[in-house]
Amino acid sequence: MSSQNFLAALTGSFSTPCGDNPTVAMIEAAYHHHDMNARYINCDVKPDGLADAIAGAVAMGWAGFNCSIPHKVAVLEHLDRLAESASIIGAVNCVVLRDGRRIGENTDGKGFLASLTGVTDPAGKRVCLLGAGGAARAIAVELALAGAAHLTIVNRDAERGQDLAALVNESTPAEAVFQKWTGAFTVPKDTDVLINATSVGLGDAKAMPDVDTDSLRPGLVVADVIPNPPHTALLRAAAEKGSVTLDGLGMLVNQGVISIKLWFDASVEPSVMARKLQDIFGVTSA
Ligand SMILES: NC(=O)c1ccc[n+]([C@@H]2O[C@H](COP(=O)([O-])OP(=O)(O)OC[C@H]3O[C@@H](n4cnc5c(N)ncnc54)[C@H](OP(=O)(O)O)[C@@H]3O)[C@@H](O)[C@H]2O)c1
Repeated sequence: MSSQNFLAALTGSFSTPCGDNPTVAMIEAAYHHHDMNARYINCDVKPDGLADAIAGAVAMGWAGFNCSIPHKVAVLEHLDRLAESASIIGAVNCVVLRDGRRIGENTDGKGFLASLTGVTDPAGKRVCLLGAGGAARAIAVELALAGAAHLTIVNRDAERGQDLAALVNESTPAEAVFQKWTGAFTVPKDTDVLINATSVGLGDAKAMPDVDTDSLRPGLVVADVIPNPPHTALLRAAAEKGSVTLDGLGMLVNQGVISIKLWFDASVEPSVMARKLQDIFGVTSA
């Protein structure tokens, strides 16, 4: 009689469109490397199918799932509990199914934070954040909860930027101000960390957020959320000026690490996932 276990633990992702989402390859590389009897299934779920998809995952005993566009807010009404940052951000991209309960987490900001703490501790730091969309919101809240002292939110759309600054001021111990993005942004001299959390640079290695490159300097940490291509124009300009740079691949990889920890309480090797993404994106080093 066989003693093998042919029943894999199931995880996956619900979003649409999702054909170009490489998370399945990244997560399954980690499962394979660590001999975990688990699968990750990339599912194209339309808005009117979300409730059934979640009920199906529960019925099949999934350990959990990621959800991405357009479900990050819609998923909230299907959950029993939210983790602290997910509750403040108001969006969930990772759900844990445990003991009959559905727990919502947000790994966008946590993945960024894990990457950032590899080069600097955000506690007490002054941060300039370009953008006020979903990624910026998650990053701002997580940095604030990690003790960042001051955030300057820089965005074209004033309403979105003001909303995010107000959220940080009202819901976290950090202080935030909004600065409308008009013309080239000059990074103030007392800034410790500059983050591009806009979509500028996605799929375009030449696209540059409107930043005065003469205000980039040695000692400044410049981080970009763009995973593909990871060597963005901003990071190249920052490296030329002697700044410490951090690419968006690290944020993506750390989101995978955090998801697997949440679903299985297992610690996986980030480099396995980083190599898989580098293969997919055609880069040799981050
Ligand atoms: N590495 C990772 O793990 C990871 C995770 C999540 C997201 N991301 C990346 O983060 C990026 C943003 O995602 P999101 O969900 O936050 O998108 P989003 O909600 O649509 O927000 C987009 C942001 O980019 C700004 N923006 C767009 N074009 C701009 C331009 N030409 N100049 C200045 N600002 C511009 C928008 O400003 P306005 O408000 O003024 O329009 C807004 O603040 C995407 O490229 C995504 O791939 C990466």
